[in-house]
Amino acid sequence: MNRTFSIIKPDATKRNITGSINKIIEENNLKIIAQKRVKLTKVQAEGFYSVHKDKPFFKDLIDYMTSGPVILQVLEGNNAVEHYRNIMGSTNPENAETGTIRKTHALNIQENSVHGSDSDKNAEIEIKYFFDEGEIIS
Ligand code: CMP
Repeated sequence: MNRTFSIIKPDATKRNITGSINKIIEENNLKIIAQKRVKLTKVQAEGFYSVHKDKPFFKDLIDYMTSGPVILQVLEGNNAVEHYRNIMGSTNPENAETGTIRKTHALNIQENSVHGSDSDKNAEIEIKYFFDEGEIIS
């Protein structure tokens, strides 16, 4: 068993589809072992996405990620990082496989409904960025 970090993004909270996304997560054998709804501050979003700070889409990404509530989650399962990335589908929903969260729900490459960690190391860093260990109930 291992863990990954997930964000259900503002485009999804605005459309009230967080339950539909959680259903896909749970039907694919990932357990939601921590979850909270927050509105990210600019400082939190910029820190979280600092790896993208030189990208042309960085400012738009921060504006978008702070435009409404998000759901922060810790997911547990076998091979959780890779498994969740497969369930999410490609960053750009146009390239995502049928049945993935992004193919089903995402609007475009930016408003792509969910984030998932891209490695075990980043999962650990991202989980620690938002959760205390006591908030995670395995
Ligand atoms: P995420 O997996 O959270 O990682 C970085 C985010 O930046 C990504 O999902 C998208 O929301 C956004 N993003 C990535 N590439 C682009 C792009 N080419 N144009 C606009 N937004 C992007």
